[in-house]
Amino acid sequence: MCGIVGYAGNVLMPSRRPLEVCLQGLERLEYRGYDSAGVALTAPGVDHVEMRKKAGRLSNLVADIEARPLSEATVAIGHTRWATNGVPNDVNAHPHSSRDGKVAIIHNGIIENASQLRLDLQAEGYRFVSSTDTEVAAKLLGKIVDAVIEETGGPNLFEAMRRMSRMLEGAFTILAVDCRQPGVVVGARHDSPLVVGLGEGENFLGSDVAAFVAYTKTAMEIDQDQAVQVSSDGVVVTDFDGNVVPDSVIYEVDWDASAAEKGGWDSFMDKEIHEEPAAVQNTLLGRLDANGDINLDEIRIDPQDLKAVDKIIVIGCGTASYAGLVAKYAIEHWVRIPVEVELAHEFRYRDPILTPRTLVVAISQSGETMDTLMALRHAREQGSKVLAICNTQGASIPRESDAVLYTHAGPEVAVASTKAFVAQITAAYILGLYLAQLKGAVFRDEISQTLNYLKDMPAKIQWILDTQTDTIKEAAAQLVNANTVLFLGRHVGYPVALEGALKLKEIAYTFTEGFAAGELKHGPIALVDEGEPVVFIVPPARGRNMLHAKVISGIEEVKARGAYIIAVAEENDKDVERYADVIFWRPEAPTLMSPLVDVVPLQLFAMDMAKMKGYDVDKPRNLAKSVTVE
Ligand code: G6P
Repeated sequence: MCGIVGYAGNVLMPSRRPLEVCLQGLERLEYRGYDSAGVALTAPGVDHVEMRKKAGRLSNLVADIEARPLSEATVAIGHTRWATNGVPNDVNAHPHSSRDGKVAIIHNGIIENASQLRLDLQAEGYRFVSSTDTEVAAKLLGKIVDAVIEETGGPNLFEAMRRMSRMLEGAFTILAVDCRQPGVVVGARHDSPLVVGLGEGENFLGSDVAAFVAYTKTAMEIDQDQAVQVSSDGVVVTDFDGNVVPDSVIYEVDWDASAAEKGGWDSFMDKEIHEEPAAVQNTLLGRLDANGDINLDEIRIDPQDLKAVDKIIVIGCGTASYAGLVAKYAIEHWVRIPVEVELAHEFRYRDPILTPRTLVVAISQSGETMDTLMALRHAREQGSKVLAICNTQGASIPRESDAVLYTHAGPEVAVASTKAFVAQITAAYILGLYLAQLKGAVFRDEISQTLNYLKDMPAKIQWILDTQTDTIKEAAAQLVNANTVLFLGRHVGYPVALEGALKLKEIAYTFTEGFAAGELKHGPIALVDEGEPVVFIVPPARGRNMLHAKVISGIEEVKARGAYIIAVAEENDKDVERYADVIFWRPEAPTLMSPLVDVVPLQLFAMDMAKMKGYDVDKPRNLAKSVTVE
């Protein structure tokens, strides 16, 4: 939600233009928001910061800059926006500048006391052109910079930023430049993300490492309530009172820039769905020791504490919460302790029962979802341990958790989550099996058999990608004009139905609902009319065949009322063949693992339909990938 990039370069390194670094970074951060984009630049000897901003996609800004080039610079900041405060237009786009145009800022978050600050500034004669909270901060920062100059005789943007940060309420990451200090970019963060990229003779700032990974893989964490100043040859981190922080964590980013490029695919979503076999495989890697035991050294929670856990609460939002729902079935089955799954924003505000024996599992691809971050902070305040399942190294959620299990899906760029979902389920299964191993809840040979099943899943996903895409495309073409689509599943098929419905609504803007198939006759069946498309996730006929029989009955009931049936079913399911109009086949898999394969055709189906409707599947309207406001 809003992408931020900053660059401080060396005048002696003209091959790297600050503007280009910012535009490149913004391109990689555009998944965080794409309502408007803007840059601000400065250089020695100028008397104001040069800004350019445009409503719409980043390409609008780029075209505008090509038509009217900007001056050369030493430092630059750039912003891609997801509007929270003020409609997306040129005026509300970031950067915003101080009254005298000497200072410019960009901002991610919401400043909650902006109205009061605006009134105070207006009373002093300040005028505002936009309806954003960011412009309030820009005017305020300009005023504080002037006050610092008056007090000390020289500009000190870093000090001014700290003073302002102490006055702001709400969530913010702010970057600023001042034409009187053309060698530095200054930043501050409170409840919004910010990372530093460390280069040689140049340094970077970004909402996440994607902003600068093309230039450096060495990153430095900026913690909550810290301010930072970067120049071409140095980085200084302080708290908001000015105390220097000497020991910020530095780490190497473990994916390279090409991982976040389309690489021949026409959309990131298509590429990322095709990366699902690798996402599952890489998430399994390195988690087994030589004896075949699950070894999660990376979990920094004492095994004795984990052994004592008597309840798990999984929290997350959107797709991550559906991965949590899948995990519930598996973890309860293996570990035999209750698992609750709750949307993070609901959990936080209902005073949940948390004890030191409750393990809270926070699932998040980005690691920055504010609702999930707030929920985990609440859980820790209540004395519970929090384990994060996260795809982004060094993000706020893993940093603030007691332990982290990283999913190794690689960077996910398309806004609608796909490969992260299967990786999250895989990680949750590893966690479940690890707890079962610790508690002795499952025999060792059963654990290793289950792990073997898991290891087979990448090949099964690949089978779907290799054999089902034509059928899926045809079905999407057939239903491209459908106004509504219902998704029904039972047991682990239920969260898959929810995820299938979410994907189609997110990117094809089709009205969809996902239901537990058993609920059909308690309401949803009233929606079924002649030709109504209904997608069923059919459990295998083997094993728990009562589930299969019940889902087949559901299919019969809606078929009798004229529904158009699309089924996701295991190969050779004769009952399904009898009733379904279209079948997306998937290979045989144990019931608990089946979501890893069942979801794949539904992701492809949503993508195909959105493409047929002419939509940008990577950047659906109104959405952002990383929702950093509550
Ligand atoms: C947003 C995205 C979803 C994502 C959800 C949770 O709503 O549009 O695709 O599932 O956030 O994101 P997280 O990064 O916490 O997994």
